[in-house]
Amino acid sequence: MKCLVIYYKNGFMERENAKVDIEDRGYQFGDGIYEVVRVYNGKFFTLDEHLARFVRSATELHIKLPFTVEALTNLLEQLVEKNELINGYVYIQLTRGAADRIHNYADNLEPVLTMYSTVRERALSDIENGVDVYLHEDIRWLRCDIKSLNLLPNTLANTAAKNKGGHEAILHRGEIVTEASASNIFIVKNNELVTHPANNLILNGITRGKILQIAEDLKIPVKEEAFTIEELFAADEAFITNTGVEIGPINHVDDKAIGTGKPGPVTRKLQKAFEALLPS
Ligand code: PDD
Repeated sequence: MKCLVIYYKNGFMERENAKVDIEDRGYQFGDGIYEVVRVYNGKFFTLDEHLARFVRSATELHIKLPFTVEALTNLLEQLVEKNELINGYVYIQLTRGAADRIHNYADNLEPVLTMYSTVRERALSDIENGVDVYLHEDIRWLRCDIKSLNLLPNTLANTAAKNKGGHEAILHRGEIVTEASASNIFIVKNNELVTHPANNLILNGITRGKILQIAEDLKIPVKEEAFTIEELFAADEAFITNTGVEIGPINHVDDKAIGTGKPGPVTRKLQKAFEALLPS
């Protein structure tokens, strides 16, 4: 079910009344940024972290934020309240604004903020049973650390994986596994976690950050190091993380079982600790 009230440009309105300028640079160039934040039981989860990343993405692309983080937080709380959202997401998008369609941008454009919510229950079946994934070459640009609206390589890879009956596309640059089309990936080898370092080749996931904290608390060693496709196939366990699926155990990659082909004990331990952090 879609929400009724959205925030667009300067205020709250019904979705039907929002008019997108056909020369909005977000619409024409994918010139903008976004965040997806989870709401559990009417409460935001890791909102501060998401907004910090939002500010970082805006700064990296020289897009001026029209609001302070405090003001944004307040608007988001109003959005949740107006839509009586209990379990679901809010989507936050900021485009550089509208202008004549020329490639270079002026620095006096008025950025356009869009925020709406979607009702969605937790992906319990994926969390519990695990998912199958397929490999796909990572053809994205070299600033994957910015959560930009340019998602074509991600949507192409994701669709290719879905068409094979999978849940996610695991991206690799040559032999190196980077992340997934809409999530980060971890492997477990000899009770140690391995995940790609948070550099320009991946999005530094908020869920990824939570896993690193949990691992530290549980004294599970972590290596933030690149690993290869071969190491993925040889892993004891593997899982993806993102705001939607939380921790999704990987059963098969390209139809080959990882470990036992079922969610493993380290993944289960992390899932349990993650679940304990969710707002009740
Ligand atoms: N995607 N890597 C990519 C490429 C992503 O798009 C995402 C999130 C992540 C995980 O980030 P986080 O843990 O902060 O959700 C990693 C969101 C959910 C999306 O595009 O819908």
